Amino acid sequence: MKVEFVQKDFTETAGDGLILALTPGDLEPVSKRDNTPRLAVLFGDNGTEIERALKGSDFSAEKNQLLTLYSIGKYRVVLLVGLGERSQLSTEKLRRAAAAGVKAAQAAKSNSVVLSALDPTIEQVSDYDTVHSLLEGAILAAYKFDKYLTADKKKTRVEQFTVAIKSIKSDIGKKAARDAGSVCDAVYLTRDLCNAPANEIYPEALANVASKIAKKYHLRARILDEPEIRRLKMGGLLAVNSGSARPPRFITLEYRGNYRSRDWYAIVGKGITFDSGGISLKPAANMGEMKMDMSGAAAVIGTMQTLASLKLPVNVVGIAPSTENLPGGSAYKPGDVVTTMSGITIEVDNTDAEGRVVLSDGLYYAQRYRPKAIIDLATLTGACVVALGQHATGMFGTAEDIMAQLKEAGEKTFERVWQMPIYEEYEKQIKSDIADVKNVGGRWAGAITAALFLKRFVGDYPWVHLDIAGTAMLEEESDYAPKGGSGVGVRLLTQFFKQAAS
Ligand code: BES
Ligand code: MG
Ligand code: ZN
Repeated sequence: MKVEFVQKDFTETAGDGLILALTPGDLEPVSKRDNTPRLAVLFGDNGTEIERALKGSDFSAEKNQLLTLYSIGKYRVVLLVGLGERSQLSTEKLRRAAAAGVKAAQAAKSNSVVLSALDPTIEQVSDYDTVHSLLEGAILAAYKFDKYLTADKKKTRVEQFTVAIKSIKSDIGKKAARDAGSVCDAVYLTRDLCNAPANEIYPEALANVASKIAKKYHLRARILDEPEIRRLKMGGLLAVNSGSARPPRFITLEYRGNYRSRDWYAIVGKGITFDSGGISLKPAANMGEMKMDMSGAAAVIGTMQTLASLKLPVNVVGIAPSTENLPGGSAYKPGDVVTTMSGITIEVDNTDAEGRVVLSDGLYYAQRYRPKAIIDLATLTGACVVALGQHATGMFGTAEDIMAQLKEAGEKTFERVWQMPIYEEYEKQIKSDIADVKNVGGRWAGAITAALFLKRFVGDYPWVHLDIAGTAMLEEESDYAPKGGSGVGVRLLTQFFKQAAS
């Protein structure tokens, strides 16, 4: 993938496809005396073609409108995409317009695009954000998981993205392009890990990917194998692993971006590479989607990569306990009591509530870093999907300041989070008669009782839990994510750490 910014007009740039994000104002006449649309004037020699095309269409640059034109000037395809009213412009509208443009470009078999917007439009948003948002929307929308399709079945994919805007200073534009490229690279990685089938991405394979990234980006990787996991008495991870023929892995990646500080943040991701439910077996329909039950771990790995490639001045450890959850003769069973690394005992009432069981050890291990905050990401509950669907991540926790920062980061990236309560009154639902805690809390408020379960394992450390069950595995494509793994969490946490660093 090639991503760049050039400080030039789109007419001075050449490419296969041109995507112009436009507002209705851009189509207005230049003056009272001259009826030529502003946009046509900017096209110079090709102005009359543009004017004619606009006249012959109903394109008015309203939100979601799209007009495809062929062979105009140096471009084979020109895509005009509507942003809607200029005064209502947002970074999200820029992302969506760029995304719509890229999808149309790919449909027109274009593999390289130039993106631009007009000056009055981009004045509404900072120069950095303009370039960053256009590229994010474009790159993320171009994603396809096609590695298992034979070459003749693969569809055209845009691989080259150039933003061309003359009024934006080169250093700002180039920095924004580099940053957007880095973060989108990591989102691609996270999506690829999620979409990969469970016979490709199992715990050892996931750990190998983490190691490779650590090497490339100079992170410190420590991957604990089964004997080490036993030595540390990670009874939660081992219990869930017991039905699987594949050994577990406990993945840690350290990024030290600020040597002057001793503060650490810990991000912990659920890494169930396949969740069959175990002895409490899930229904057959759509069970294959549970290859994505490692989306939290994948988001952690992707975020660690971005932190390193952006060189953010923060210290972060990424932690991902990983195993499959399968039934079998040696599998853990309803009624079992397991002792976690923390010493806290869990009564297993349902083996399908395995995420919280492995996270018990992941969260407890995070305490070793005396972190300023622990943030976990997990495709934890169907209940969260019932509550919020695929457009908001459920947020729970004890750290109000961190949650406020995540909320802000969520609005900025449009990976939105919505806070849910963890009132102590719900606690009694996870009380066990024979162990310290029970792994299910009954029918009601399932996302909350799951969060309260996790809270037992974070000690007194400030903590936030993000339930990404609805946002990480999309049943339907969204504006710039196809169906399947969305890569949610990478952009959110990257933005959070940008804020934390400033
Ligand atoms: N991985 C699932 C949660 C999930 C469900 C993620 C749907 C994405 C979409 C989790 O391990 C699970 O099975 N949770 C159970 C918990 C229940 C048994 C208390 C659930 O939500 O049904
Ligand atoms: Mg489960
Ligand atoms: Zn699960």
